[in-house]
Amino acid sequence: MNEFVYSYPTKVLFGEKAAAKHLPAELSKVGQTVMLAYGGGSIKRNGIYDELLSVLQAAGKRIVEFSGIMSNPTYAKVQEGAALAKAEGVDFILAVGGGSVLDCCKVVSAQAKLTTDLWSFEYGEKKQPAEFIPMGAVVTAFGTGSEMNNGAVITHAEKKIKGALWGAFYDFAILDPLYTMTMPLKQVFSGAFDSLSHCMETYMGKPRTSNLSDEINEACQRNIIAHVRATLANPQDVQARSELIWAAAMAENGILKIGKATDFQAHMLEHQLGAYTDCNHGQGLAVIHPVLYRHMLTEGEEQFARLAVNVWGVDPSGKSQAELAEAFVQSLAAFIKEATLPTTFAEMGISNDVDYKAIAQSTVLTPNCCKKFTTEELLDVLMECKG
Ligand code: NZQ
Ligand code: ZN
Repeated sequence: MNEFVYSYPTKVLFGEKAAAKHLPAELSKVGQTVMLAYGGGSIKRNGIYDELLSVLQAAGKRIVEFSGIMSNPTYAKVQEGAALAKAEGVDFILAVGGGSVLDCCKVVSAQAKLTTDLWSFEYGEKKQPAEFIPMGAVVTAFGTGSEMNNGAVITHAEKKIKGALWGAFYDFAILDPLYTMTMPLKQVFSGAFDSLSHCMETYMGKPRTSNLSDEINEACQRNIIAHVRATLANPQDVQARSELIWAAAMAENGILKIGKATDFQAHMLEHQLGAYTDCNHGQGLAVIHPVLYRHMLTEGEEQFARLAVNVWGVDPSGKSQAELAEAFVQSLAAFIKEATLPTTFAEMGISNDVDYKAIAQSTVLTPNCCKKFTTEELLDVLMECKG
């Protein structure tokens, strides 16, 4: 295991009616002006907006609305939110939504406290912000785990980069499975696949020998697979949603990363696909993963073989490690179809004119990847994904 420091800043408030039960107490600790931030309006249609508004009003807060945060939030939207927060003297941000709203607000919370441009500050000066507007999250769409980490993924449209920016941790995160019941099923499965991808990408990091983090990770993967299947059988299964929402947080809250250096190369490639196509994150990962893994069967053989047996229930008797690794990729690909996820970029509606060469060239991989892909190899992967 690598050395580590573990401490946890986000309080998780999990369960049905969690906002009604816990939000008043949390709001009593924060300042007077609260920014209520949300996306394109799903919360107005499903009643979550009205519920939260009445809690905020009962707490006597002055409310500043920041709405229209799009999927794959842009740096321009971050600047809009930061300018609003500064102008209105916002004391606290309540972010209500999926990964896009939560990510956008993390960066708003940092940019609003900074006079310089955050992108140049983090990418150019290689610094991390230290001052933030405090925040709370209400999760309405699970998958990214954004509610329990301090990373945000933001699209800089002019630079054509979808990249990570570091913001604040949420002081608290409200996880109510009932709030996710109106998620479109397509988003339920793409979100769940995103969580599974976070597990796999962490698992493929270093060290590659068996360790406690990986064993917890295998349990998370089995849980996600089982509850995607439960949701396929019964889309209204609240118990399955409650498992998926917590598994999503677990997959990206750092616990699976304890003592590990992570890989995340499918993510790095998918993020650049997103920068060029504005595609759905979990769907992009579903297409990329099996293709990428076929290109690293040798380098990842030992871990793939372990996943085949411990996660996918493949019987190891009489099989070589290489055969088990192949069985893992086959199980994963079959599951993607079973979960009604796309298997090609064409199925995702991505047009053929995309500049795949530019996507491959602009993808920056971490040094910990199980296999170090060249730009040419990444382009091969993208071409196979195209369909
Ligand atoms: O905008 P509204 O109208 O709210 O609709 C949203 C959106 O269209 C809808 N939705 C959310 N909750 C709903 C609902 N519809 C009905 N009922 C509800 N209860 O769902 C759609 C998708 O939401 P979005 O937040 O875009 O999806 P997701 O949670 O998958 O977030 C994706 C973003 O997170 C980034 C991705 O790159 C992408 O930009 N990620 C963030 C990570 C992190 N911070 O840790 C890690 C991930 O790997 C990922 O990169
Ligand atoms: Zn992801």
